[in-house]
Amino acid sequence: MSNSTQKVTEAPEHTFVLFGATGDLAQRKLFPALFSLYLGGALSSQYSVVGVARRKLDTAEFRQKVRDAIEEFSRQPVPDENTWNQFIQHFSYVALDVNNANHFCDLDDHISKVEKERGVEEQNRMFYLAMAPEFFGTVTTNLKSCNLTKNQGWKRLIIEKPFGWDYQSAEELNKELRQVFEEEEIYRIDHYLGKEMVQNIEVIRFANSIFRPVWNNQAIANVQITSSETVGVEDRASYYDKAGALRDMIQNHMLQMVMMIAMEPPSRLKNEAIRDEKVKVLRSLRRYSEIDVKDHVVRGQYQAGKLKGEQVPGYRDENNVDDDSQTETFVAARLYIDNFRWAGVPFYLRTGKRLAGKSTEIVIQFHDMPKNLYFNPNGNLNPNLLVIRVSPAEGISLLLNAKHPGQNEETVVPVKMEFSQEEDKSSPEAYERLLHDALVGDSTFFTRWDEVSLAWKFVDPIARAFNSDVGPELSFYDAGSYGPKRADELLQEDGFFWWPFHVEAPSAEAKKEPLEAAVSTKQP
Ligand code: BG6
Repeated sequence: MSNSTQKVTEAPEHTFVLFGATGDLAQRKLFPALFSLYLGGALSSQYSVVGVARRKLDTAEFRQKVRDAIEEFSRQPVPDENTWNQFIQHFSYVALDVNNANHFCDLDDHISKVEKERGVEEQNRMFYLAMAPEFFGTVTTNLKSCNLTKNQGWKRLIIEKPFGWDYQSAEELNKELRQVFEEEEIYRIDHYLGKEMVQNIEVIRFANSIFRPVWNNQAIANVQITSSETVGVEDRASYYDKAGALRDMIQNHMLQMVMMIAMEPPSRLKNEAIRDEKVKVLRSLRRYSEIDVKDHVVRGQYQAGKLKGEQVPGYRDENNVDDDSQTETFVAARLYIDNFRWAGVPFYLRTGKRLAGKSTEIVIQFHDMPKNLYFNPNGNLNPNLLVIRVSPAEGISLLLNAKHPGQNEETVVPVKMEFSQEEDKSSPEAYERLLHDALVGDSTFFTRWDEVSLAWKFVDPIARAFNSDVGPELSFYDAGSYGPKRADELLQEDGFFWWPFHVEAPSAEAKKEPLEAAVSTKQP
């Protein structure tokens, strides 16, 4: 498993074949990630990057594009021209039409030439598909037909989401991929699993004995997982208007966080043992029938509103979105994990676009204290909360109750134990961790096929209900708000409410503020 405190492991010699090399993901995330890995000594001097895309570019133009991307998006600047030249000399480019099988044979020639020039010792090949999912099957089939996957060393495939559209299409896609790659060779990316604090959940849970006796339904009243965004649909309507928040966020990122919180301790901290335990959570997840969905799931869509002082349009007024689009840009859901540890504990999820703040956060709410305690005469003692802030302000806080200094013991005030991870430019980004893990063959933080398939089996009836008369109605919310009222009612039905989320790191000065805000919103 990756561990940033350990010395970074150098990736073995390889050729990195990047499909979608002129696309957004490559510019924003992948080139900067490769550059950081190089600067950090994680790429051996024996590597080649072959960019592949439809557009015609020569090597110099492609290298310039990589340079532009790194200057704009890399967390680390180019230290000097010599280092840059050392890094970029490994990059070349091939223009290719993915539907033309002959082009793959040209690609094979190019890669063989690059490997020969490198004086290849290990003919390892990493294929990364940073492109629209409808091409995944065609690309892998063509890779095989031109023998690109008949190399001597290892071959691996990194594939972006969405993995399918529902269970059936995911299964078909998987079958296609499996004609060419073994399951162990397929690295399905869920970038949330590359986030520092998502990886940290495992360490917090299993490296601290204080959590062992309380991580269950005897001590925990509910779990709230929020991933809220301020951005709207941006220029992605052609994808998003079909996917909606359910497929875009719940099926993958949100369920991954549920699994990390709810899984049993693995028998070993090794990839398959961890993934086995995660899968068991999905197996225990209560599946809703279409008719049940409206009782547990809320779907919303943003309308025009004010965000950070600016007026922003409603979803239906965004480019390429129909005037009467029924697509949800917000989902809140109540989940139950029907096993011994979690029976009766609701897991509340909420995610949406154009909300009041950008934040990903997990709140573990512990049971209330008995009301007859002498220092809890009004029953308004705050419950203990463990808050895991995934972003933007990485950290953990524990909310406790203590005596107000200088006053009698009946004056109880909430105090917060706070651990804030400094925003640290030296800490790797999600894509760096994930690329490095894939290059060294560690699949812990990638999604296995059984996880994907079970996640779809949970989501499919919800998606069907959304498209039918029995599903929940679309609730509208103003851009810049916290989502539709119905999402609040979902928790009120159980006597709970959403805890406010942090949108920035608590400064030393303002450390008490989010807590006070939280406490002041505690409802009777
Ligand atoms: C992506 C979704 O997977 O995750 C986007 O497709 C969403 O719609 C993004 O904006 C959120 O990621 P993050 O890391 O900004 O929380």
